[in-house]
Amino acid sequence: MGRKSLIFGSFVADIMARAPHLPAPKETVMGNGFKIGPGGKGFNQAVAAFKAGAEVKLVTKLGTDHFAEIARDTMCQLGMDQSGVFITKEYDTGCALILVGEDSGQNEIVVVPGACLTFTSLEVDCVKDQICGNDCEYVLMQLETNLDAVTAIAECAAAGGKQVILNPAPAAVLPEQIWRWIDIVTPNEVEAEFYTGISVESEESAGSAAAWFHERGVNGVIITMGEKGAYLSVGGSGYMVPPFRVKAVDTTGAGDAFNGGLLAGLSEGMDWKEAVIFASAAAALSVRKIGTAPAMPKREEILALMEGKEIPAE
Ligand code: RIB
Repeated sequence: MGRKSLIFGSFVADIMARAPHLPAPKETVMGNGFKIGPGGKGFNQAVAAFKAGAEVKLVTKLGTDHFAEIARDTMCQLGMDQSGVFITKEYDTGCALILVGEDSGQNEIVVVPGACLTFTSLEVDCVKDQICGNDCEYVLMQLETNLDAVTAIAECAAAGGKQVILNPAPAAVLPEQIWRWIDIVTPNEVEAEFYTGISVESEESAGSAAAWFHERGVNGVIITMGEKGAYLSVGGSGYMVPPFRVKAVDTTGAGDAFNGGLLAGLSEGMDWKEAVIFASAAAALSVRKIGTAPAMPKREEILALMEGKEIPAE
C-alpha cells in the first residue's frame, strides 16, 4: 500500500446518449442507447486511483436526490471511504449531458456541477484539516468545484508540504498565484493551449507549453495528447511517452483514468516515467468500455497491459 491521497472534486451523474455520429448544430441524430451512471472528474479520478491500488479519500458534495444515491451506491459497491462526502439539502447533485459519436468514439459534454460548486468556507476548512491533520501526502484536484475552494486547498496543502496535483479541467481562468502551489499539472493539449496560448501539436510545442508552467513554479508538467501519447517534463527536461494502442469505443473519462492512474503510480513510489506509463495503460483500458467511472480498469488489468498481455474486452 502506498502513501495516502485526498482527491477534492466533483461527483455528477453522467447522462449519456450514443449515436452513429455527433450531431452538427441544428442537426437531430437518432440515438442507439442511453444510460445514467456515476461520473464527474473528481469521482472518476478517485475510482480510477482506487481501482489502480491507491489509498484515496474523495471529498465531494452531493444533494439529497436520486443522483446522490448513484454516488453512494457506487462507493459502497467498490468499498471506498465515504467519510469525505458532504451532503446538502439546498442544492441538487450535479449532472453532465454526454453525447458519444460511435464513428469516432469522441464525445461532447455539458457539465452542470450543482452542489459541487457550493463548497463553503467552513467545508473548505474541514478539508484543510483532513489534509494537514493526517498523513495524506498527495492532493489531486480538478476544476469542476468552486475555484475559491480549489485555490484555498492548494495553498494550504502546499504550505503543509503535500504534493499538489492539478488536472486543470475544464479549462478556467485561475488566479495567477495558484501555480506556485502546484507541484504537478496535467492538462490535455486543448487545456494546455488555453492556459499558455501555445497550440500543442507536437513534442516541440508541448515543450514550449510545459516551459510556461515551469516558469510559474510547477515542477512536473504532463500534457496528455490523446493518440499521440503524453508529454512528460520534469524541471524543464521533457519527452514523449508513447500511448498503448487499443480499439476505442468511448473516450469519455480517459483523462480521468490517466490522472487516477498517475496518482496511484506516484503514491506507491513509481518514478515519473513509470507512473506516466502506468497512467497511460489505465487510460487505454478505460476507452475500451462504455461510460466513465464504470470503465475504470482494475490494477491487474493495467499491469497485464504493461506486460504486453492480451486483456479480453468485456
Ligand atoms: O472527464 C469526463 C467527465 O467530465 C464526465 O464523467 C462528466 O461528468 C464530465 O464532468
